[in-house]
Amino acid sequence: MKITLNTLCSIVIAFNLVIANAIAEPNTQAAVAMPDSYSADIAIDILKSGGNAVDAAIAAQFVLAVTLPEAGNVGGGGFMTVYKDGQADFLDYREVAPQKAHRDMYLDEHGNVIENQSLYGILSSAVPGTVDGMWQAHKKYGSKPWQELVAPAISLAEQGFVVHPKLEENIQWRINSFNEEGVNVNFGKYFASAKTGVVFKQPELAVTLKRISKSGRDGFYKGDTATIISKFMQEHGGIIGMSDLAEYKAIWRTPIQQQWREYQVITAPPPSSGGIAILQWLKMYDMVKPDTTTLQHNSAQYMHLLAEIGKRVFADRAEYIGDPDFVSVAQAQLINERYITSRAKGISANAISVTESIEPGLKESEDTTHFSIVDQWGNAVSNTTTINYTFGSGVIVEGAGFILNDEMDDFSVKPGVANVYGAIGGQANEIQPNKRMVSSMTPTILLKDNKVKLVTGSPGGTTIITSVYQSILNVVEFDMNAEQAVNTPRFHHQLWPENEIRHYSGIDKRTLDSLQKLGYNFQQSKFGDVQLISRKDGVLDAASEENGRGKSIVIH
Ligand code: DON
Repeated sequence: MKITLNTLCSIVIAFNLVIANAIAEPNTQAAVAMPDSYSADIAIDILKSGGNAVDAAIAAQFVLAVTLPEAGNVGGGGFMTVYKDGQADFLDYREVAPQKAHRDMYLDEHGNVIENQSLYGILSSAVPGTVDGMWQAHKKYGSKPWQELVAPAISLAEQGFVVHPKLEENIQWRINSFNEEGVNVNFGKYFASAKTGVVFKQPELAVTLKRISKSGRDGFYKGDTATIISKFMQEHGGIIGMSDLAEYKAIWRTPIQQQWREYQVITAPPPSSGGIAILQWLKMYDMVKPDTTTLQHNSAQYMHLLAEIGKRVFADRAEYIGDPDFVSVAQAQLINERYITSRAKGISANAISVTESIEPGLKESEDTTHFSIVDQWGNAVSNTTTINYTFGSGVIVEGAGFILNDEMDDFSVKPGVANVYGAIGGQANEIQPNKRMVSSMTPTILLKDNKVKLVTGSPGGTTIITSVYQSILNVVEFDMNAEQAVNTPRFHHQLWPENEIRHYSGIDKRTLDSLQKLGYNFQQSKFGDVQLISRKDGVLDAASEENGRGKSIVIH
């Protein structure tokens, strides 16, 4: 859904502010692309009342912890890419492994992976990073009082919000699948009563949010909330303790900034694999596509070349990416022009590379959520946040009312064993205390002549990377507007399963036939929920992918 606000009387006051600002700075437009209507409405309110993009992001993050519990969170983590006052920045508020975690913690005495233990239940949770992340973002860039930014979430938790049909559907799916798999968690106790069209309240979460509002990060990592979490852990066999919480720190990192065509791409560095991956994908595409013509969008040739690149991108991802505070990641080499040229060499327009032959190249050595914001000053936030799988570990901290993540599954629990997204990893991503697990989250901003051209991102595990680079190509290479760029069918290939292309419905049958002749097989399903803002001829455009429950708003 997309709304363009320019006549509604409810924004008259804001209009005055915007116009006043326009005297100093001619850029008076703002836009949000959000994964639900509550976060969209609150974010736009913050922007209209003079808040900047980071203020709006903080308020939205807390609202999503209430209204989009599949992924919104205070019990998870994420990444925020920021472009503020002409400077690029990146906040890593990814969860870390608890101090008592160890490399083989999900293996039995025979060295076999214990089914589901890194994915569901109390042992699947890593130390949450979201609250410290928002606190650090506020300290560095916030302009409105912290309490004002947490307040909307408190009232939605305390007074309740009207449940969207997709939320009820997801809750029922999760409860049934937990039952079918014999997973014993307290998720149903907290969420089974949420029904479409009916107000749903979360009183325990409201109290936790009030402590966060009053005491900032200490309202979560110290005092009552921390005591409730660590007691709950002790009583239920978990391993997150008071010192894990007290010592958690979100980290400001240098974002990856690279030129691609006439754009400056600002994107996620390790422990995300996404920034390196999208740059390899975009740059290698320019090396293998025909020199003189633009390939037809979603044609067999286009899909094959991008799948071939995907094989190489994911071979590197599995081998080289890890927490840069623990392993040395050859970031510069992996996005170096010469290296990417050498990787592109084996790609043929007419044949699929043998999967086993694709090795990492440096010889010597469905739930997350995303939102995009541009404020009236031209600052931008691209934020992806997660508790990992839909509704995370399925465990709610009793007495504190929030869902714990199952981010431990993003580590490589055993070399060569795939995680829930089919991603494999090795030593670089093995479990160590306090280490961050590799992520695919890729919040990205493109600038042209130092002005925001595109803000994009998506959930979807490893498919995030695909959703992001294809949304960029859709806008830049195929000149699509925001609505088209998020909704046009996408396709994904990640080296394994062998030659499998996962794709949306809507890809031409003849295209699939040609790809099948080349040797591809297919899995048809949607992935991702792209929230995108673009600027064309000076005008902002925003869109939320139609399969989600997102809402985007542009103010002119
Ligand atoms: O950080 C990651 O890459 C994953 N934990 C993201 C999970 C996700 O996108 C789930 N969404 N469908």
